[in-house]
Amino acid sequence: MKSITEFGKMKAKKEKISVVTCYDFWSAKIIDSSNIDAVLVGDSSAMVMHGFETTINATTDMMCYQVSSVKRGVKNKLIIADLPFLIHRKGAKEFYNSVDLLMKSGTNAVKIEGASGNLDLIKELVESGIPVMGHLGLTPQSIFQLGGYKIQGKDNSSSEKIFNDALLLENSGCFAIVLEMVPSPLAKKITDELAIPTIGIGAGPDTDGQVLVLHDLLGLNKDFNPKFVRKYLNGYEEILSALNNYTRDVKDNNFPSEEESN
Ligand code: KIV
Repeated sequence: MKSITEFGKMKAKKEKISVVTCYDFWSAKIIDSSNIDAVLVGDSSAMVMHGFETTINATTDMMCYQVSSVKRGVKNKLIIADLPFLIHRKGAKEFYNSVDLLMKSGTNAVKIEGASGNLDLIKELVESGIPVMGHLGLTPQSIFQLGGYKIQGKDNSSSEKIFNDALLLENSGCFAIVLEMVPSPLAKKITDELAIPTIGIGAGPDTDGQVLVLHDLLGLNKDFNPKFVRKYLNGYEEILSALNNYTRDVKDNNFPSEEESN
């Protein structure tokens, strides 16, 4: 398994880091056999797996259930799990309980969105031996504050804030930072400045690694085609055609054949 220290070494060697989301056992098994470096049990699962409109519906229970499924399928990858919406604003007891449950479910690290108001919590987690990944730029848990899924840090003041937040997260002990939907020059500036790796999504080619949602790279949602996603499979059409071929064979009495029967 790649550890968080290896993440740092990969940055030093200029070896890019590949991260993909994963929420269940069967895709975890496939990812485990691949060359992917780490898996993110993202709260994007609320949208991708459960059809909610935002990530706000992810709960500690949901995340723990997914982390434990992923853990059973992944033996050789670093697992990072999102802290669910608002858990860090519900008081120390609820916050630490959520982190504790996620760690006991099998995650190796947690990811927290934003810097303001989180720095002391991040320091405490790191002091307690829990690796923390930061997340800046488009932070989907703040979608209503941000006014939509759009690029962040376009003007001077917001760009400066993201840059300064990245420095604060590094100083607080984060082992890596996701930069989501920020202009490439800003992602490069942060990447060049920080000793810890940056992992980009919609942030251009100059970050130390990239993360994509598994379902996006597999092309499973034909209606989701943002500029930053490259589809490595036409998954929607492939699966649709498999299902229709199966149904055709059942209806034509071509399945099962004699060899497929007992
Ligand atoms: O929840 C998620 O999948 C994420 C990635 C998009 C970075 O946070």
